[in-house]
Order: sequence, then structure tokens, then C-alpha cells
Amino acid sequence: MLEATLVLDRDFCLARVDERMFGSFVEHVGRAVYGGIYEPGHPSADADGMRTDVLALVRELGITLVRYPGGNFVSGFRWEDSVGPLQERPVRLSLAWPALESNEVGLHEFAAWAQKAGCRLFYAINLGTRGLEDARNLVEYANIAGGSYYSDLRRKNGAADPFGIRLWCLGNEMDAPWQMGEKTPENYGLLANEAAKIMKMVDPHLEVVACGSSSPLPQFGNWESGVLSRCYDSIDYLSVHRYCAKEPGMKPVEYLLQPSGMDEYIAQVLALCDAEGAKRRSKKKLSLSFDEWNVWYHSKAADEAMRGRTEREKAPALLEDVYTFEDALVTGGMFLALLRRADRIKIACMAQLVNAIAPIMTQNGGPAWRQTTYWPFYHLSRYGRGTVLQSAGNLPLCDGGGYGAVPALDTLAVLMDDGSVNVFVINRAQEPVVLRVDARAFGGLEIARHVQMTSPDLLAVNDAANPQRVTPQEGAASRDGRIALEPLSWNVIFMRKRG
Ligand code: AHR
Repeated sequence: MLEATLVLDRDFCLARVDERMFGSFVEHVGRAVYGGIYEPGHPSADADGMRTDVLALVRELGITLVRYPGGNFVSGFRWEDSVGPLQERPVRLSLAWPALESNEVGLHEFAAWAQKAGCRLFYAINLGTRGLEDARNLVEYANIAGGSYYSDLRRKNGAADPFGIRLWCLGNEMDAPWQMGEKTPENYGLLANEAAKIMKMVDPHLEVVACGSSSPLPQFGNWESGVLSRCYDSIDYLSVHRYCAKEPGMKPVEYLLQPSGMDEYIAQVLALCDAEGAKRRSKKKLSLSFDEWNVWYHSKAADEAMRGRTEREKAPALLEDVYTFEDALVTGGMFLALLRRADRIKIACMAQLVNAIAPIMTQNGGPAWRQTTYWPFYHLSRYGRGTVLQSAGNLPLCDGGGYGAVPALDTLAVLMDDGSVNVFVINRAQEPVVLRVDARAFGGLEIARHVQMTSPDLLAVNDAANPQRVTPQEGAASRDGRIALEPLSWNVIFMRKRG
């Protein structure tokens, strides 16, 4: 049996977790919007056509921020199509994700949905096929109280009060060959700089996110340097995107180790940001917006097959990954890696929210349910809002396949405002690990509860027929301050004051 000790000290605080780390993403792709959040005629639909069964799950998940309306979609989007009388909104070809876009859900409808869901809007502008003029008009439409052309148009369209959108993405993945309006770092850096300037002239309270690399493509690094050298002073965050995928032939433990690569990737992106800051002798330290992260591979082949089709329909089933138990462990590991850098990552959005690579699935006209990947997010969102502690420990090694011997546990400890501590642990080993949490420095904290998620079948999924196949359970009780972690498991350990 493997044994581990985790040492926590209240003086080793890394950073407070920003509320916006519990963000998500709704793109006009597949059935994310139509059939996902919105389905007039569904038995649970409210007067606005929004599915209240989905809203309940989104609220339960504790989403604080939602990125919208894309993604790749936004790079061909005309925001004006999505406002005004419904019957006058045009149906457009959606090019990024072959479909017909009816524009039934647009800025007003989505802002109302976000309010019901209890989250703030994080809006992306189109810097692919459009530019500065549209960006400036959109900010005026969304954020100015009234008395000017676009703000009065919003009022005429039914929203007397401005939407007050604070956070904006300056385009999406503008380095990517698949993006409409792909740019060089020079072109994008200049455009991002000008867009940030003009948008902040309209509303000085905005914060803007410039596009970092879409993935570790060959131009990674050159892209960041080229962009930042042109817009460092005008932007507030640089974006990072990352999707993990199980490659054919990969052993389960090798797949579970994929999130470990994020630590290094984040450090590299920060080094590029800080190098630009140093060149400028700037006092400003740029933070990161990790505004797309998830596991994504199950649906890729099916989606490729859709690409060649010329017939387009409304809301085809695209990107509908059905997540396994091991995918949940990987998303948990990704989220732990993000929170471990709570000092420099201030925004994070799991991509996405409903149906398209999402923790929530629906059937048109049918139920909504939680995928396996719902649970680690739920736990971190519910029990991870505090101050991240730097922990030390004596962690055993396990067989990491092609990676050699690797730490068996992936851990994160969060100090809560009431003085309690929550510890999140993934056991990557094929055998149980007995963990002792040494919290002496806290004076009298002990393990009060343990919740775990495990499965005899790594490939088990939740579906409409069996939505609870993979769910968290109460874990083993602690004995002498030690707790047994099941092989290949996700764990939340609640440390509370004795007595
Ligand atoms: O989230 C799915 C897609 O992944 C987004 O549209 C795009 O930004 C990224 O490549």
C-alpha cells in the first residue's frame, strides 16, 4: 500500500482564487444554444423559451462568468443580426460550424439568460471578418445608458438599462489556420491595440483580453511576443486555450498525466508576458485568461464527417463528447493546474457548458443530465473559493507508463474564509494510497468528511438512461488522521476544527 503525507501551513498562502475562475463558455455551435439553453416548447421552458432544467444545473454548478457567443463562431458573426425584432433577424450561414444560424437568441436574450443563471457576461467581438467600427458600436450599444445612436437603439429594442459588460475578448484564436480572418502576430497585435483603445474610449471601465496562441502550434512564443510588443499597455489579460485528448494507444495513466503539461505551458506563457513587461520596464504584470479548457476528442471524427456536407440545418448535433470517468479525472487535473496558478490566472472558462463538449447534456424535448466531468468542476466551484495554499509533502511515486515514475497524487489545498481547509486530490495510481494531512500549523484541524468519485470502469459514462452511473459518494472515514484513497479516484477532503 502506498503512503503519502501532505503538509499544510497557514503562512504559505499563494493567492486568493478569483471568482471568475469558475467561468464557462456558450458558443453558437451545435446544440449548445438551440436545444441546450433555449428550447421553446420544451416542458421546462420558461416564458422566454429558456430551459429551466438546464438553468437549475448551471446554477448548481456555480458558474460565475460566461464567455459568449464564440469561439470560432464569433469570427464570422454580425452582432447587429442578433438584436431587434425577432421576425426581422436574418438567418445566416454559420461557417465555422456548418449550420444555419437563426439569430433567435442574441445579445438581449443571452444577457437575460445569464442573469437567470447568476453569472456575468464575457463577450467576444469579431476581429476576424470585422473590425474597429463594429467593436466600438457594439460597446456603445451594450454599455452606454442612452442619448446616442446605438444606446438608443438598444433602448428601442427593449433594454432600458445598459448590459454593463465589463470583460471583452478581442477576437478568438486569431493565430489559428481554421479561423476566419486569421492574422499574423504583427497584424493582430496592432488591431488588438487599436480595438482596446477605441473600446475603452467608449467605456473606460472595460477590461479586455487579447488572444494568445490557440494551442501550442509551431508559432507559439513568436505569436505571444509579436502580439504583446504591440498591445501590452492597452490590454488587461492574455488568453490561453488548452484541450486534452486521449490519443490512440495511450495508457490510462499517460492520459491522466496530460494536465501536468499545463504547469509548464502556463509558466512559458507567463515568461513571455513578463519578458515584454521587462523590456518596457513596466510595473504592470499581465494576468492570464484561460478562457477555453477541457477534454475534447470523442466527437472529432463525427464532426469532421459533417464538414464536407453542403446541406446545412439549424442546430445539428456537433462536438457532443460523451465523457467517461477517466475524462472526469483529467478535467479535475486541468482545473487543479489552473488553480495552482491562482496568483496569475484570474479568469478561466471550461469550454463549454451545454451539449457541445459540455458538463451538461440534454435531449431535445427530453431530460437534461450531468456528465461525469460535471463533478470535479462542481466540487471546486463549491468548495474551492478561498485562498490557495502552497503545500509540501511526501508523495509516493507510481508507474507513469511512458513518463516513468510519477507522483501518484495530484493535490490542491484551499483555505476557506472560516478557517477550514478543503483538500482536492486525484489518485492516479492503480492502487490505494493512504494519505495523512498534516495541518498542525492550523491548530486542531482534522478530517471531518471525505467525498470521492471512483468507478470500476474507467470508460463508464452518464447518459439519459443512466444519468447517475458516475457520481460522487461519501468516502471512507478517516482513521488516526489518515484516509484511504481509492485507486484512480477524485477526492475532496474537508478539514474542520476539532470539537
Ligand atoms: O470550443 C470549441 C472551439 O475550440 C472554439 O470555437 C474555438 O475557439 C476552439 O478552437
